Amino acid sequence: MKIGALKEIFAGENRVAMTPDSALQLQKLGHSCLIETGAGANAGFTDEAYKAAGVTVLSSASAVAELADVVVKVRGPEPQELDLLHEGETLISFFWPAQNPELLEQAKAKGVTAVAMDMVPRISRAQKMDALSSMANIAGYRAVIEAANNFPRFFTGQVTAAGKVPPAKVLVVGAGVAGLAAIGASVSLGAITYAFDVRPEVAEQINSMGAEFVYLDFSETQTDGAATGGYAAPSSPEFREAQLKKFRELAPEIDIVITTALIPGRPAPKLWTEDMVGLMKRGSVIVDLAAERGGNCDLTVPDQKIVTANGVTIVGYTDFPSRMATQASNLYSNNIRHMLADLTPGKDGVINHNMEDDVIRGATVAKAGEVTYPPPAPKIAAIAVQKPKEAAKELTPEEKRAAEVAAFKAQTRNQFTLLAVGGGLLLLAGLFAPASFMSHFIVFVLSCFIGFQVIWNVAHSLHTPLMAITNAISSIIILGALLQIGSGNWLVIVLAALSVLMAGVNIFGGFLVTRRMLAMFQKS
Ligand code: NAI
Repeated sequence: MKIGALKEIFAGENRVAMTPDSALQLQKLGHSCLIETGAGANAGFTDEAYKAAGVTVLSSASAVAELADVVVKVRGPEPQELDLLHEGETLISFFWPAQNPELLEQAKAKGVTAVAMDMVPRISRAQKMDALSSMANIAGYRAVIEAANNFPRFFTGQVTAAGKVPPAKVLVVGAGVAGLAAIGASVSLGAITYAFDVRPEVAEQINSMGAEFVYLDFSETQTDGAATGGYAAPSSPEFREAQLKKFRELAPEIDIVITTALIPGRPAPKLWTEDMVGLMKRGSVIVDLAAERGGNCDLTVPDQKIVTANGVTIVGYTDFPSRMATQASNLYSNNIRHMLADLTPGKDGVINHNMEDDVIRGATVAKAGEVTYPPPAPKIAAIAVQKPKEAAKELTPEEKRAAEVAAFKAQTRNQFTLLAVGGGLLLLAGLFAPASFMSHFIVFVLSCFIGFQVIWNVAHSLHTPLMAITNAISSIIILGALLQIGSGNWLVIVLAALSVLMAGVNIFGGFLVTRRMLAMFQKS
């Protein structure tokens, strides 16, 4: 099939949906590639680079649309772009079908198949096609850089001969993809970083990144994201009040606020109110990533940077990924390439638009003269809403004690049975096997038993660091090599020296990896 990329016509959009690298990958899937001249120029990809990657450069969008079987672009299509497409042609781009019913109707009338990158379900298998996440990741990072650019102080604290500089305090509201990227960037710049999200399950993730989760004095249990396809559910008015109260408390001491809170399909919740802006120090910065959906801050002006009367800068840009166009195009074109890889299962250049596939079905919003939006609920939601287990009954102290004793007795009984069966089997083996075998065999059985007992008692999350440390310890091989290194034979010396070197790498590497992994679990 012919895959054609269009030049973005939205003013100020610098990204492109196909890069020379992604074109090479598409060709490996059996496709040929076309691109409109100048489409990659603003992202740093020249026509010559495309030609060198085997892409045919055409002079206009209509020429690309006419020749291509699949058209790829970044921004949702403008009506005049959809008009260029012919019946049976596929468009892959952002689409925002909920906000653009008239575009859906237009695609339906034209018999165009539309694959919306913003509708790719957020499930593990589809991560490689999740363009919302790849763009939000860039936006989160860039938000911090933009904040730093507008903030009149260092992020990190310093003690210099000229004086002491306190570290900046950053609050990230909403710890989804953009929020976590912002936390990562802010922590790495040395700021004291706080973060808040309505999903309590992200608290651990936030803490492990070196930021501090802001807890509310509130007992409502928020919905687990799994029930809503990985997204948060709206919170109650009482919860919102508790949240605003906490933010009001924090406002005077926070220097930078990065807001990313959003629930898909809804306007952005107003979380940073005008009075909170009033409470902030002069020079503070707010970067509102939700500006496109109305903003999380009362005073945000979409696409603009404003400075309030009390000297707070509020950045409402909605084009952060486009401001890092090369990076964004690389990631986005990879998302598109992975989507096309799923659409070309035979790697033979033939598109198989399999509507039984969860991801393809979820992203397809129009097909064969039909509107196929909204898609059925993702299967993961069906699992999440399965009947919850009955809550455990509250036990009295006596009942608890009795249950503990019964559990201990059962455990002891099991252990005795295991020992008796194991001992019996060993005796049986001893009747037939030679004595030398039995002594080794008993050591082997005991090591298995001890190893099993040790690992059994380690939390699952620590199994990977445990494996790394085991790897280091298992390099006991070094002892054998050290014993041989004094031998007179040069071949033995060389082999022993090599063994020492490799075992040394294994040991130190194992300890280093373990240390790093354990650091990830330590609270800051
Ligand atoms: P996401 O869905 O992964 O994260 C949103 C987070 O906000 C979730 O963790 C959710 O639990 C949380 N949240 C929802 N309501 C909340 C509330 N009331 N209080 C606190 N947290 C709340 O979304 P993602 O991908 O991280 O995107 C975040 C925002 O960034 C979106 O508004 C998106 O449109 C925007 N964005 C902006 C760009 C720009 O250039 N300005 C570029 C890319 C994304």
